[in-house]
Amino acid sequence: MFIIAANWKMNGNVNFAQTYCAELDKFINEQGVKSEIIVLPSAPLLTVVKGNFKIGGQNCHYEKSGAFTGEISAELLKNLGCDYALCGHSERRQMGESSELIAAKAEASHNAGLKAIICIGENDGEDFAKTVFAQLDKSLPFTATAANTIIAYEPVWAIGTGRTPSTKDIEERHAEIKTKSGFKVIYGGSVKPENAAEISNAANVDGLLVGGASLDIEQFKKIITARK
Ligand code: 13P
Repeated sequence: MFIIAANWKMNGNVNFAQTYCAELDKFINEQGVKSEIIVLPSAPLLTVVKGNFKIGGQNCHYEKSGAFTGEISAELLKNLGCDYALCGHSERRQMGESSELIAAKAEASHNAGLKAIICIGENDGEDFAKTVFAQLDKSLPFTATAANTIIAYEPVWAIGTGRTPSTKDIEERHAEIKTKSGFKVIYGGSVKPENAAEISNAANVDGLLVGGASLDIEQFKKIITARK
């Protein structure tokens, strides 16, 4: 199934989440949306985010429980109704998360019964293949299967910048990642209503991971309907 995920990052509050989810739920039911829609809110909003869609955590810890102040376990995500955990978003890699740590988080997600969305992507000026294949090699735990793991290709230079790779580049890069991993590959980085049709209908694109534009329910609805 095609996947369309809304990564709210550190945005939103209780009122926002309630209004947004009521609107999204209504839209999905009325339109008979066929894609798998996932909302990834800040962890405290996981009990507020409800509707005819899946929910996921933006991060998790690799241990099941313990003295890890401020962290959230994959087991608790599952207990809160999540089906997904985002692992290794570039905004967390930039804070120092290594691929090895991300693999441990993905393994914890799998062990908790969650699907891991493992993020990879090159920085501006970095070689695509060198960076992304090294990340892929080290960020995938031995527990990863095609049933429990999705790769999100998010070129770091495209996140929040309004810049995107060409459709041809997206198609070729996704093909390489799919061949190497055997998993679904979704695209993230400046997906907007204006480019959603082109990107979501491109070859080898199994879904979208949307940041900024997902915060505006009207824009997110347009992105959902852009997929033919
Ligand atoms: P933007 O859609 O704001 O570029 O963010 C992409 C992203 O980081 C999704 O995880």
